[in-house]
Amino acid sequence: MAKPDIFKIYNEEKNSDIKYFTTFTYGCQMNEHDTERLAGQLKRVGYEYCDQLDLANVILINTCCVRESAEKKIYGKIGELKRIKVANPNVIIGITGCMAQKDKEKIFKKAPHVDFVLGTHNIHELSDVITEITNSREHVLAVWDQAERLAPDVPTVRKGDISAWVPIMYGCNNFCTYCIVPYVRGRERSRTLSDIVQEITQLGQDGFKEITLLGQNVNSYGKDSGGQLDFADLLQAVDKIESIERVRYMTSHPRDMNEKVINVIGESKRVCEHFHLPIQSGSDELLKRMNRGYTTDYYLKLVEKIRSNIPNASITTDLIVGFPGENDKLFQETLELIKLVKFDAAYTFLFSKRSGTPAATMPDQVELAIKKERLQKIMDEQNEISLTINKKLEAKQLEVLVEGSSKNDVNKMMGRTRTNKIVLWDKVGTEQPGKLVTIDIQKAQTWLLKGQLFA
Ligand code: SAM
Ligand code: SF4
Ligand code: F3S
Repeated sequence: MAKPDIFKIYNEEKNSDIKYFTTFTYGCQMNEHDTERLAGQLKRVGYEYCDQLDLANVILINTCCVRESAEKKIYGKIGELKRIKVANPNVIIGITGCMAQKDKEKIFKKAPHVDFVLGTHNIHELSDVITEITNSREHVLAVWDQAERLAPDVPTVRKGDISAWVPIMYGCNNFCTYCIVPYVRGRERSRTLSDIVQEITQLGQDGFKEITLLGQNVNSYGKDSGGQLDFADLLQAVDKIESIERVRYMTSHPRDMNEKVINVIGESKRVCEHFHLPIQSGSDELLKRMNRGYTTDYYLKLVEKIRSNIPNASITTDLIVGFPGENDKLFQETLELIKLVKFDAAYTFLFSKRSGTPAATMPDQVELAIKKERLQKIMDEQNEISLTINKKLEAKQLEVLVEGSSKNDVNKMMGRTRTNKIVLWDKVGTEQPGKLVTIDIQKAQTWLLKGQLFA
């Protein structure tokens, strides 16, 4: 069963005069951050966070629809909440996020116990919607089709106190043929540089050490607002904010990653040398059908530029297996490409038909069993590569930002390198979360590094 999000609980003692909320989040970091903006609005109107479903007066499910598997899981979760509604008819259940934007009133038909559906462009309306429901007890649908401008700012409560997400732009103009995101998140809208810098400066003053700049395609930053300032300029400005230790960003589209950005990252102090560059496929024919706007040759040159400029950079990627038209030969091209590039890690997905996208009705759809077989081959190959790369870090001393205790072992601490590798080490007691420490790496695994605090 999916667990509720974890926000800080300010008061353990439950009080019947206080109203409580619980949230569940699915999907990407942008959605995780949207949950923080939803929680911020609830707090502003007097709700406190609690992690007990039975006590909650408002339950939010912030949804994703990027793949069918995510949707199935979410509809399952919504079904489970019927029990809570029967036990407590006054509870307000709201569905927000990308699936809310896509399915709209269909959600009420499938799950009449849901009270409201709030679209991705309507996040700032949450407290008004809750008031409306409290007064009328009718279903409320608040889903705008498009957002022409940036939505008004809303208060935010952060889940952590070391790392924070900062959106720099919303939406996507790329329309990759498999992807639902442009339909549910609208066109690109960039925030102003001064707003972003101001928010990060404040986060630094509040004690945050790491910032992740968010956007579906961060390299398009500024293009929708005249193009005077681009992503590289933004990175340069953010790099000067002294109270922050590290800056990351998600996600950059390979087509729009350029030399200026690579140079700025190479010269910057705080922007980490980790490049997440989703390639999606190693076949030029499939890349064309996906409408990705680059070739494998272009991608390989980009990797070369990054590695020659920043030799210790890590490079990770996303791959879709079983895109329509992927035959054994084209699949083999992807396998060859991952052997050639040697990614630090790859996030691999089975192609999922998204109704309304061009790829859903393309000919030569691939059978599920073949997709699964190919996914396994890719994962086996990539795991070996990741392990080989990580092994080279054994006996090295790496700078790690302490995040906290390991989830599985309270005697171990957990943090990340600048290259975004997870590191575990035996707790000493002096390594406070938020501190930069040096870890002597002793054992490398596929997904993590183990070591000891370096004296
Ligand atoms: N904007 C990012 C980019 O273009 O790199 C990606 C955002 S998307 C939320 C994350 C990943 O989901 C994509 O890189 C892609 O690999 C995967 N994805 C998107 N649509 C998919 C689909 N229909 N089936 C399978 N995977 C999909
Ligand atoms: Fe989807 Fe492509 Fe936009 Fe990424 S760039 S969100 S994959 S349409
Ligand atoms: Fe993110 Fe899923 Fe929406 S990946 S943008 S929450 S469809």
